[in-house]
Amino acid sequence: MQTKNIGLRNIEVADTKICAIDGINGKLIYRGYDILDLVKKSSFEETACLLLNDDLPSEKVLADFKKKLVEGRNLPDNVEKNLRNLPKTANPMDVIQSRVSELAAYAKESGDDREANYNKAIDLISKIPIIIAYWERIRNEKELIPPSPKLGHAGNFLYMLTGNEPDSEVARIFDICLILHAEHSFNASTFAAREVASTRAHMYAAVSAAIGALSGELHGGANFQVMKMLLEIKSEDKVESWIKDRLAKGERIMGMGHAVYKTFDPRAEVLRELSRRLSEKTGQPWYRITKMVEDVTEEEMKKIKGSDIFPNVDLYSASTYYMLGIPMDLNTPIFAISRTSGWTAHVIEEKFAEAQPKPMLYRPKAVYVGKYCGPSGCEYVPLEKRIQAT
Ligand SMILES: CC(C)(COP(=O)(O)OP(=O)(O)OC[C@H]1O[C@@H](n2cnc3c(N)ncnc32)[C@H](O)[C@@H]1OP(=O)(O)O)[C@@H](O)C(=O)NCCC(=O)NCCS
Repeated sequence: MQTKNIGLRNIEVADTKICAIDGINGKLIYRGYDILDLVKKSSFEETACLLLNDDLPSEKVLADFKKKLVEGRNLPDNVEKNLRNLPKTANPMDVIQSRVSELAAYAKESGDDREANYNKAIDLISKIPIIIAYWERIRNEKELIPPSPKLGHAGNFLYMLTGNEPDSEVARIFDICLILHAEHSFNASTFAAREVASTRAHMYAAVSAAIGALSGELHGGANFQVMKMLLEIKSEDKVESWIKDRLAKGERIMGMGHAVYKTFDPRAEVLRELSRRLSEKTGQPWYRITKMVEDVTEEEMKKIKGSDIFPNVDLYSASTYYMLGIPMDLNTPIFAISRTSGWTAHVIEEKFAEAQPKPMLYRPKAVYVGKYCGPSGCEYVPLEKRIQAT
């Protein structure tokens, strides 16, 4: 291998004012505010507004933001019709990605100035949950539930998904999950969005690219794998042997370890408590089993590798979503509901930030290691003279 910066790991490519991650001390900061403070004091709506602006909103700005979010809870008739025409087996991430591209054709805002992009961001934050809730109802041949203007972003999504209004504790737990997943700096999907935006493509194209990047199991799909593991383990008495067996085979334990956090991921700490509360509320065993997975993995990794390992955001979000009654294949789409706020904030920063240095267009360099036949290139052999493979 000749490439020095494989995968752009640790390569600084742009300035950002949106998010800071301190992987050594386990800190996640949105626009200067600690995530641990935001989950105690803020709501998803306010956090999304914070990400899209420079600071926490005034009462008036927040009220206007929330009003626009509620007004955006609908889909153009043709987009809804097209949802109904899809095969019921379609992957929910593909469904969202294609609907987001389609929404570009119906956007109320045609311009590309800052205000137009701000309004497009709100439109997407409103509509992505509607696409997911509708898709869940359509694929199960259930009637669509119209949005409820009296419910917040989190509560309304759960209501439109299930038809039942969540109690305030459940709505708040989901609201906290959305705050936790809203932003995480230059992760793969956000970088994809910024890269597309840097070409001056529009907001819908950039968010659609981000959804594509999020759909891969190395990015958005890990908590699905965690829940599969928990369902396979089934009970506390099986955890130890299950984990030891996997580690002995050199396999990885999903939901453990992180490329940036070398200590506790602060989001995992919050989600652990949410999972505990839901286990207590629903009488389901998933919190206790997950906690044992965490403890046994840590213990075994110390013995095997002599190193520490910590839970990441996916370990406890898996059981949290499961106990909220969310189908497992909607875990990644839910990530998209929340992360749309971060993606759109980055698209706006990419298009309008004054911070320098800022690339006109991302254009990394590849190291060519393919065929070489000298400076004048390989001789072109006409098709009829090439030795044909059978
Ligand atoms: C996320 C992840 C890719 C980060 O990896 P990383 O920080 O680059 O760490 P490395 O892959 O270099 O791993 C360091 C060591 O810890 C081990 N390790 C890391 N995560 C592990 C896990 N979940 N289970 C078992 N061993 C693990 C690796 O085998 C490696 O051992 P080695 O040095 O002997 O080869 C990795 O922790 C992982 O695969 N986790 C499971 C998948 C997951 O939960 N993904 C969601 C992330 S938010």
